[in-house]
Amino acid sequence: MTSERIRFFLPGPSYVPAAAREAMTGPAIGHRGAEFKALYGRLQGPLQRVMRTAGDVLLASGSATLVMESAVVSTVRGAVLHCTCGAFAERWLAISRSHGLDADEVSAPWGEAIDPDVLRAALKRKTYDAVTVTHNETSTGVLNPLAELAAVVREESDALILVDCVSGLGGARLEADAWGLDVALAGAQKALAAPPGVVAFTLSQRARERAAAKEHRGFYTDLLRYVMYHERQGTITTPPIPILFALDRQLQVIEEEGIEARWRRHLELRRQTEAWAGERGYAYASGPECGSPTVSCLRPPPGVDPPALVAELARRGVTVGGGYGRWKPETFRIGHMGEVRAGDLGALFADIDEVARTLG
Ligand SMILES: Cc1ncc(COP(=O)(O)O)c(C=O)c1O
Repeated sequence: MTSERIRFFLPGPSYVPAAAREAMTGPAIGHRGAEFKALYGRLQGPLQRVMRTAGDVLLASGSATLVMESAVVSTVRGAVLHCTCGAFAERWLAISRSHGLDADEVSAPWGEAIDPDVLRAALKRKTYDAVTVTHNETSTGVLNPLAELAAVVREESDALILVDCVSGLGGARLEADAWGLDVALAGAQKALAAPPGVVAFTLSQRARERAAAKEHRGFYTDLLRYVMYHERQGTITTPPIPILFALDRQLQVIEEEGIEARWRRHLELRRQTEAWAGERGYAYASGPECGSPTVSCLRPPPGVDPPALVAELARRGVTVGGGYGRWKPETFRIGHMGEVRAGDLGALFADIDEVARTLG
């Protein structure tokens, strides 16, 4: 737990505690030597516990989008179905289309979650190699019912389940093995509260077999290449070593808290935000049944212009997220993720109240 008051509430990258920042300042080491192998090995157990998998957790250098792209490039030969309900899910669809893949979508309006029955109907109509799901849609603050969606995919098809859990991992319950996820991927920069630059991901046995059957998987995008290097406790290319040291430090913090306690704390932060928003007339842009534990996307009361609110908070040294894409003019977003505590949020709400009075 941090002693510094957090004033940084972007829905990622999130606030990085001082200890993790300091962990990045050690002397340089090589990425093929014993010290790196020890670091790599040390990350495994905590990452497996965060992702709830007994399988390997692989590490890619880059941003999460790299592994979104790699997952489809490595495993999809025929058609792929994307569950879309916001900007990041739409990005995955755009990635597949950019590769000329036969990519369809099952969509829900922005602010709503994917309906498992709609997904079921789509799977009955056509055969897919893979289905992609965005667990926590950061642009709208929607948490999709991933366990149910994954169960539907398994019941209706042989498709792989590829999951972007970027802004949920470490904050929202995720069960990679129990829910049968074939790829679950997340950058370090959201609810894990480490700096951006590395992506942790799982790759099921089924996904490995599908990838092995695909002839051209690219080079940086070849997920099987990551498995090969993982077996030697290494990454496929030069990794951002300081960031891995920061992640190592942050994973110790997460281990001390315990993943289930961390999920509960995030739910509490969500409830605290809901209570304040309800009292002040801020409306959630997402339906109550699909509320994200890590991101609140809000429409302010009349007279409070979201971009002006975000700008005035920034002038006072407090950072919240603006609305995303087409929702930019009407919403703003609070990232209550990572190491944020109730006291930090309470102080943020007092700041917002004060700014809203000057704007309203
Ligand atoms: C849900 C979700 N998916 C994917 C991404 C893309 O991550 P990156 O910027 O690390 O590529 C983000 C980033 O905010 C995200 O929130």
